[in-house]
Amino acid sequence: MEEVTYNGLTFKPYITRERIQERIREIGREITKEYKGRKPLLLCVLNGAFPFASELFLNVDTDAEIAFIRLKSYEGTSSSGVVKEVMGLTDNVSGRPVIVVEDIVDTGKTIQRLVERLRQENPSEIRIATLLFKPESLRTDINPDYVGFSIPPKFIIGFGLDLDGLARNLKDIYVLKEQAD
Ligand code: IMP
Ligand code: MG
Repeated sequence: MEEVTYNGLTFKPYITRERIQERIREIGREITKEYKGRKPLLLCVLNGAFPFASELFLNVDTDAEIAFIRLKSYEGTSSSGVVKEVMGLTDNVSGRPVIVVEDIVDTGKTIQRLVERLRQENPSEIRIATLLFKPESLRTDINPDYVGFSIPPKFIIGFGLDLDGLARNLKDIYVLKEQAD
């Protein structure tokens, strides 16, 4: 794996596709066990979570459904703190166990706002699955139920995570070089 550059910023390899896939398989197995017979609705938070949601969904080996919601809060390499709901909920979640599938929980504001919004729709349960978690950046009392990788507060891209819309199609995860060590 080589360094990559986007918008003049250089990134170094951080988490390989193999490690990502293996970790997602493990989470898939956990969800399969815990939700057997309950038909969970995986709610993919667009755009960033779609590769994770897709891989996770394929690794849930019991009846499950998928739906989508689109949110946006980031500009550049730091959280704007303002969460905009760009696209509403595509499905009815009333009375159903929902697993919110996120790419990353940073300050936690995005997911907190989404959970508040979801509660109004009366799901029977809300859990959170996130591929990445930056516990040191957390500014809310959000506590994700399924975490792929807990990482320090560094800016990363790839496997769905973007820099101003770019780099989502990198197969591995990369970290901003100046924050690498
Ligand atoms: P939060 O509201 O601060 O938790 O931010 C969550 C959202 O910010 C995520 O859904 C991502 O879209 C974005 N984000 C947070 N950290 C990163 C990062 O390191 N790289 C790319 N996007 C990030
Ligand atoms: Mg996101």
